[in-house]
Amino acid sequence: MQIYRSALLRFTQDGQAVYDEDGLLAIAPDDQGRARVQAAGSWQALRARYEGRTVTHWPGRIIAPGFVDMHIHYPQTDVIGSPAPGLLPWLENYTFPAEARFADPGHGAQVAQFFVEELLRNGVTTAMAFATSHPASVDALFTQAQARGMRLITGKVLQDRHSPDGVRDDTVQGLIDSEALIQRWHGVDRLGYAITPRFAPTSTPAQLRGAGELAARYPDTWIQSHVAENRDEIDWARALFPTARSYLAVYDGFGLMRERAVYAHCIHLDAEDRALLRARRTAAAVCPTSNLFLGSGFFDHAGAHEAGFVHGLASDVGGGTSFSPFRTMQAAYYVGRTGVESGQAKRGLSLTPTQLWWQHTGGAAQALGLDGVVGNLQPGCEGDFIVLDPRATPLLARRSAQARSLDELLFALIVLGDDRVVEQTVISQAKYAPSA
Ligand code: GUN
Ligand code: ZN
Repeated sequence: MQIYRSALLRFTQDGQAVYDEDGLLAIAPDDQGRARVQAAGSWQALRARYEGRTVTHWPGRIIAPGFVDMHIHYPQTDVIGSPAPGLLPWLENYTFPAEARFADPGHGAQVAQFFVEELLRNGVTTAMAFATSHPASVDALFTQAQARGMRLITGKVLQDRHSPDGVRDDTVQGLIDSEALIQRWHGVDRLGYAITPRFAPTSTPAQLRGAGELAARYPDTWIQSHVAENRDEIDWARALFPTARSYLAVYDGFGLMRERAVYAHCIHLDAEDRALLRARRTAAAVCPTSNLFLGSGFFDHAGAHEAGFVHGLASDVGGGTSFSPFRTMQAAYYVGRTGVESGQAKRGLSLTPTQLWWQHTGGAAQALGLDGVVGNLQPGCEGDFIVLDPRATPLLARRSAQARSLDELLFALIVLGDDRVVEQTVISQAKYAPSA
């Protein structure tokens, strides 16, 4: 049992922030030895319950739920910041060559270790990540996450066409490898498998059909892919699947839209696509730094909210430019503000700091089907949390000291914060202190 005393941020089921300036968080192992929140609330209200216990006191700090990154590519750690005129040349010139290096398991192991440490350093305690088409790249990431007790979802990329030698897989072998990885890793400790067709243009209909069949046979696995990110990509997908109603509908036709399916980007959608996401309870991973960097477009936050499909924030490293959830939340705010006056109308709106934070914690967890498991610190949730220092930089110290409300404090952290704010990342019983 661990008792912590500090300011404490958590959320209600529907994403309202609950904040105790002087809070108590009690974490205790459940029957299976998994650390869970036993109590969370004000110090005054809860202290009597834990009379006589050792308390870890962090004055001036904020305990908050670990961040959830819904979409990230660990093999693209080394291509961050590679400029290109758009998605397709970026894939061809930087991404595929970088991913081809993962044919060497030693390279995969070394990048996986760096990647997991970088997630934790930035306060990300749960991630859904692409590996590469090489099965050993999946083993490498699961091994690193397992060693740290992290909750992590990944999968072998399926891409049997329109891909260069070195990353292209074989239609049938790719599916056999995926099933073997499901059996080896899915549900082991805190690990989960995601069936991972890269995107419709790089998989044959036969491979997509096989992926959908696999998803039906293993209904509690995840599915991850990309959709409607870039105009050239969309034109290509439409040309390859001319009978589908839309690019998104291609996936639906192969049984790849269901709960626990996550599509990155979802920028250029129409009303029917949005209704389809909602009907299938399929999630969108919103990747603002990537969309700004690659010039892909602007996610329609108001449209998503109105249509009512689940969505959450993601870094999409290496198209995305930062591992830091603070940078992603800030970029989402900018994208939210951007409205288009005419043409394909996108209404600008001002996302609140609580909405931004929720979409990168509990909201993202809900979108992954991990509601009440991670991304929150209500009783019963797994006990991953971060310790934030609102005085981590001179400017942030000055600004946060003048915050008159929780919204102002959270906004100061979103706008001025980054990895320097994350003083500790605590994964269940394991503790990771970057500065220690
Ligand atoms: N579409 C297909 N593959 C990728 C990828 O690796 N990154 C991004 N941003 N989009 C993709
Ligand atoms: Zn991606």
